[in-house]
Amino acid sequence: MNILNSIDALRAQISIWRRNGETIAFVPTMGNLHQGHLRLVEVAKTKADRVIVSIFVNPMQFGKNEDLHSYPRTLEADCQGLSDYGADVVFTPTPEMMYPRGLDVQTYVEVPILGDLHCGASRAGHFRGVSTIVCKLFNIVQPDVACFGLKDYQQLAIIRQMVIDLSMPIDIVGVQTERAEDDLALSSRNGYLTAEQRAQAPALFKILKQLRTQILAGNHNYRQLEQQAKQQLIDAGFTPDYIDISAQSDLALATNKEQKKVVLAAAWLGNTRIIDNIVIEEV
Ligand code: PAF
Repeated sequence: MNILNSIDALRAQISIWRRNGETIAFVPTMGNLHQGHLRLVEVAKTKADRVIVSIFVNPMQFGKNEDLHSYPRTLEADCQGLSDYGADVVFTPTPEMMYPRGLDVQTYVEVPILGDLHCGASRAGHFRGVSTIVCKLFNIVQPDVACFGLKDYQQLAIIRQMVIDLSMPIDIVGVQTERAEDDLALSSRNGYLTAEQRAQAPALFKILKQLRTQILAGNHNYRQLEQQAKQQLIDAGFTPDYIDISAQSDLALATNKEQKKVVLAAAWLGNTRIIDNIVIEEV
């Protein structure tokens, strides 16, 4: 496995593969890899001849008071895991390489509406940062396929819309969320939780599962269900950000039984914000 930290070196490697007719799958990450990321690599390997993983803690997607500086950086362990899982190249650019003129004057990509809801409403500029860096990485790598986790359901929807809107010929693959034994969705930020918070954290997905059961049992009073779920989150020790029963098609709040739905949720445990979701298909 090669670790490349320059755009030119990565492009040179890619052009050799392309000349040989090889296809490329891409997994963008911010590092501090866990089993969820490694599963993305496993899936990527089934989709193309070569797998490129990027590790870049993207300053553009962090708000002023967020955890950019404390975000865990574990490059050595990450590269070991990626090598074990058979990635071909790890791309590790610096912020200066990706944003040479600085963030204030950087051209950006923004997916309207989808990027303003849910996490977009509470993290101003977050999805602009995500779509801009993913667009830049796609332009550098020009993959055939790119893999993203379904845990970040809204992010995945935004990337899917971006490739359609910008006519990028990339197949976007969503990969099932990996969970701990107690059902907590794996996330790099779980490492911030104290032992007490870690014990409370699985309640989020438990509440989502209860919501799904209620909806499938015929309760279509979605706004009332959201309020109940918020109260359950508070009772379980969370400070809820949002819990929204949404339509899969456009992520707007669901209003009727016919829509395929996804419940999207974000809640705080102390200073740590955790997100999760559950898909619901009523018949
Ligand atoms: O999901 C992530 O880790 C990041 O948002 C991504 C897609 C790598 C962009 O920085």
